[in-house]
Amino acid sequence: MYRRFGGPENVQVEQVLPPSLGADDVLIRVRASTVSAADHRARSREVPRGLGLLAAFGIGVVRPKRRVLGMDVAGVVEAVGEDVTRFEPGDEVIAMLGAAFGGHAEYAKVRQDGAIARKPRNMTSEDAVTLVFGGLTARGFLAQVELVPGATVLVNGASGAVGSAAVQLAKHAGAHVTGICSGGNRELVTSLGADRVIDHTTDDVTSSADTYDVIVDCVGNAPFERVGHLLNPGGALLLVIADLPAILRAPLRSRRTGKLVTATVGKPTAEDLAFLVDLAEAGHYRAVRDRTFDLDEIAAAHRFVDGGRKRGNVVLRIAAHHPDRAGAGCRPGTVPVVAE
Ligand SMILES: NC(=O)c1ccc[n+]([C@@H]2O[C@H](COP(=O)([O-])OP(=O)(O)OC[C@H]3O[C@@H](n4cnc5c(N)ncnc54)[C@H](OP(=O)(O)O)[C@@H]3O)[C@@H](O)[C@H]2O)c1
Repeated sequence: MYRRFGGPENVQVEQVLPPSLGADDVLIRVRASTVSAADHRARSREVPRGLGLLAAFGIGVVRPKRRVLGMDVAGVVEAVGEDVTRFEPGDEVIAMLGAAFGGHAEYAKVRQDGAIARKPRNMTSEDAVTLVFGGLTARGFLAQVELVPGATVLVNGASGAVGSAAVQLAKHAGAHVTGICSGGNRELVTSLGADRVIDHTTDDVTSSADTYDVIVDCVGNAPFERVGHLLNPGGALLLVIADLPAILRAPLRSRRTGKLVTATVGKPTAEDLAFLVDLAEAGHYRAVRDRTFDLDEIAAAHRFVDGGRKRGNVVLRIAAHHPDRAGAGCRPGTVPVVAE
């Protein structure tokens, strides 16, 4: 939990009751989550230029609105609300909690019509949870373009959580993929399917004559002004991260240039997650894990993510809970507490 914005030291382990369940909620006993860029942003309030006020609505003005961070979970269904039909206690699942957060805990809840799917059979919970945050974001952005086989895709930040997912999804769609990362991550990005890798520490992509059908910016340093000339006619610039001016200018740019410029992504669905699960089970999508931390090392995990250089995902392992603590009205298969 964190009670004030600031550094990693503000995040501590505390005892709280499990979330209360509504009729459509699924209560998950969490085995793993990730410490993501979103956790870093929510905790530190470091957001792109111009987005401070907007972010405050979501994460809080003076104090954090959601005290437990963690946007994603992998775990076991512990209990379901009375109207839940799609899941039952004992099911192994992965889920996106999104802006509700709450994944860095022993229990988390998600609506049955939210982004929740069964865990891939061939992955541990620690691996499976890596599909959620980066995978859903990359899928949401790439879904806005038609990726035909042979399309050329440039992924900036190809070694991060979103970038490593974008490389894999674009490759699976048959695209010719170029990834931008630092030299040390060349091998990783190539192993994910990139046909070419550009080292941003030695080469500047904007000075090359190569052009692309789709550019995915997962770093925030490739606005249209800088990379627009690298886009083929009818191409698309997918701004996974952008400041307020770039977000506001995107629709006008699209109209004027005939190239799609977008910084928005739709709400992830259970179908999106199931798509990623199917890919993983078919061997077409790999978990990209950097370090793994236990819940009691949460501050150290934040410190590591703050460095901005993680490879793929930083996993948070939530130890098996003590059976006595399944209490607080929470027996397997029952609704623990009435709706909020
Ligand atoms: N719009 C949305 O809904 C949404 C959703 C998720 C995330 N985001 C945002 O998208 C961004 C990416 O998220 P993420 O989870 O992928 O972050 P991440 O995992 O923390 O990304 C870390 C990666 O960034 C790379 N990087 C740093 N500087 C770079 C540079 N100058 N050029 C190329 N790569 C560079 C690093 O690669 P090297 O070490 O190899 O340089 C590192 O692997 C974040 O800002 C996050 O807040 C937005």
